[in-house]
Amino acid sequence: MFTGSAAERDARDPLAGVRERFVLPRDQIYLAGNSLGALPDTVAVRLERAVREEWGEGAVRSWNRADWIGAPRRVGDRLAPLLGARPGEVLVCDATSVNLFKLLGAALRLRPGREVVVCEGDGFPSDGYIAASAASWLAPGHRLRTVPRAKLLDAFDRDVAVVLLHHVDYRSAHRLPMTEVCEAARAHGVLTLWDVSHSAGAMPLELGRAGADLAVGCGYKYLCGGPGAPAFVYVRGELVPALEQPLQGWLGHRAPFAFEADYEPASGIERLLCGTPPILSLLAFEAALELLGALDPLAVRAKSEALGDFFIACAERECAGLGVEIASPRAARERGSQIALRHAEAYEVMQALIARGVIGDFREPDLLRFGLAPHYVRFSDVERAVHTLRDVLAQGAQRDPRYRQRNRVV
Ligand SMILES: Cc1ncc(COP(=O)(O)O)c(C=O)c1O
Repeated sequence: MFTGSAAERDARDPLAGVRERFVLPRDQIYLAGNSLGALPDTVAVRLERAVREEWGEGAVRSWNRADWIGAPRRVGDRLAPLLGARPGEVLVCDATSVNLFKLLGAALRLRPGREVVVCEGDGFPSDGYIAASAASWLAPGHRLRTVPRAKLLDAFDRDVAVVLLHHVDYRSAHRLPMTEVCEAARAHGVLTLWDVSHSAGAMPLELGRAGADLAVGCGYKYLCGGPGAPAFVYVRGELVPALEQPLQGWLGHRAPFAFEADYEPASGIERLLCGTPPILSLLAFEAALELLGALDPLAVRAKSEALGDFFIACAERECAGLGVEIASPRAARERGSQIALRHAEAYEVMQALIARGVIGDFREPDLLRFGLAPHYVRFSDVERAVHTLRDVLAQGAQRDPRYRQRNRVV
């Protein structure tokens, strides 16, 4: 289906109409949806109502009347099909880092006598920081075993309680085979905790079928939940009743408004709540899922793969001899939905691209990242982005001193 020129591919794209449902930066090519997903048209309408009617008019009564109190679980149930999870296995709350801390604490409790947390040495650093703090604060005597991504399957033994994995790597977009890793971990009694921040929304996930025990992920990337959107947790249904988490706040209590002196967790996934949820952000995320949840997940994945293949083909043709190297897997089945290119002046090159209307991002030390969100990126966007990259590199435009200026957020 996706062959021929960029225009022919766009003309045959079954998701072409979905782009119209997003508000995109005007006259820009937006390839940063792996960092902050674009704004779905369902969100502003929903937030307008939430602010004026539910907050303004309903005020405190809206906790019940508008079911604000049920939002973390309700939005979780709405997200569940995109993750391959069942109702009651997903909760939307807190930041990914906070959720990791909760789930790592819970996992250590579920595996008494095992003192090792396995963690990828080159994964997203915050996950490593959290794993180190969970091991030392929650379970003194526990230790991290940091292993390269390629050696994960060799790192399991009877000392390991839990392994923390990135389904799709934030730099290269390399994708781990989830079922195979889960099987290997299970054979040693090791729990799997997946960070699916870079896959959720861009491809169908099968957390249940693959045998994942626990998962976390960001709401603001391909899921388009908005800046600072709450993150999500997944817990395999059978594990929920036994799960104990370290942040025992009142909203995770069985009866928060009974104001009992002692903590007793809620019977369901709500036991992973801690404090009051950010209602406006939750409602924005829920509205985004109304749009994303209605799309055919196989069509989403097929387009994501095709966009990546097309990007690589264009970059190899246009940028040969210009100092860039493909840093993502060439085989689409081994990739997420972004393409990373290596270049010695990657930061400056990205600033030059942004100045020319191509918005991607940069990751240390030398990577240009281009997020190919299949919901709104066109093949013609990819083609223009690569042309612009070729022009920048051919002219040496990145050497302009203004592109050396480092921003706080890169
Ligand atoms: C893979 C991965 N995990 C975790 C995080 C951190 O998420 P949060 O800021 O919600 O804690 C990010 C942020 O970009 C990420 O890319």
